[in-house]
Amino acid sequence: MNLEIRHETEDEHFIVEQLTREAFWNLYVPGCDEHYLVHRMRSHQDYVPELSFIAVKNGNIVGSIMYTRSFIENEEKERIRTLSFGPVCVHPDHQRQGIGSALIEHTRKIAEGMGFPAIIILGDPHNYCKHGFRNGVDLNISMYGGMQPLGLLVLEMNGGIGRNGKYEYKGSEVYALDPEEVMEFDRRFPFREKRHHYSQDLFSMILRSRVEKSM
Ligand SMILES: CC(C)(COP(=O)(O)OP(=O)(O)OC[C@H]1O[C@@H](n2cnc3c(N)ncnc32)[C@H](O)[C@@H]1OP(=O)(O)O)[C@@H](O)C(=O)NCCC(=O)NCCS
Repeated sequence: MNLEIRHETEDEHFIVEQLTREAFWNLYVPGCDEHYLVHRMRSHQDYVPELSFIAVKNGNIVGSIMYTRSFIENEEKERIRTLSFGPVCVHPDHQRQGIGSALIEHTRKIAEGMGFPAIIILGDPHNYCKHGFRNGVDLNISMYGGMQPLGLLVLEMNGGIGRNGKYEYKGSEVYALDPEEVMEFDRRFPFREKRHHYSQDLFSMILRSRVEKSM
């Protein structure tokens, strides 16, 4: 497979947004908002352009991963800077060929070189445990407010996070999208029907499921 992993150029922005829409449409909710997230993220203060890459297969953009800055905070309100990625996606016609893994591995190495202690994401563990992600509960990390969902996943790097005390995770505010703005933005794309799919129920369960600490 002829796969190139590189940064996107400005004139590829819309293509990456289209790809993102194709990959996420009806997957986690009816329709999706990730294409607007990609659009907003690029100009947000938390965006990390040096870690954001596209995958190009035979000259076509087929995958994308984008990173933002995040942090964890201990009970003394001391913060440790972390990284988060998402959206990560591969066009449905090119999934299950190792492209998503290549994007994660490529960026993980660079993130490690930048000295961060962890990448923290909210996602389906099925996609990430194979890359070494562990549930937050086993590292004493919860969401802000204490929730410990199945989808809170942490990949430690560079010696990781200490085991002294509890931490709460806070992702970038860029993820809080205005549904009205999403609908407005979506008008730039060809019409697609919003539908229910069982994957939406599955993801909702992942976000609401709580994990017990291992014995
Ligand atoms: C999640 C996503 C990015 C993964 O991308 P991908 O390119 O399909 O990922 P990979 O090909 O590296 O791995 C997927 C599976 O294919 C398998 N695979 C990899 N290369 C393969 C090959 N040549 N032949 C057969 N299977 C292969 C992997 O082992 C993996 O198997 P698993 O599901 O049993 O673990 C992609 O499915 C996607 O875009 N999904 C929609 C958007 C999304 O959900 N993003 C994540 C948000 S949480």
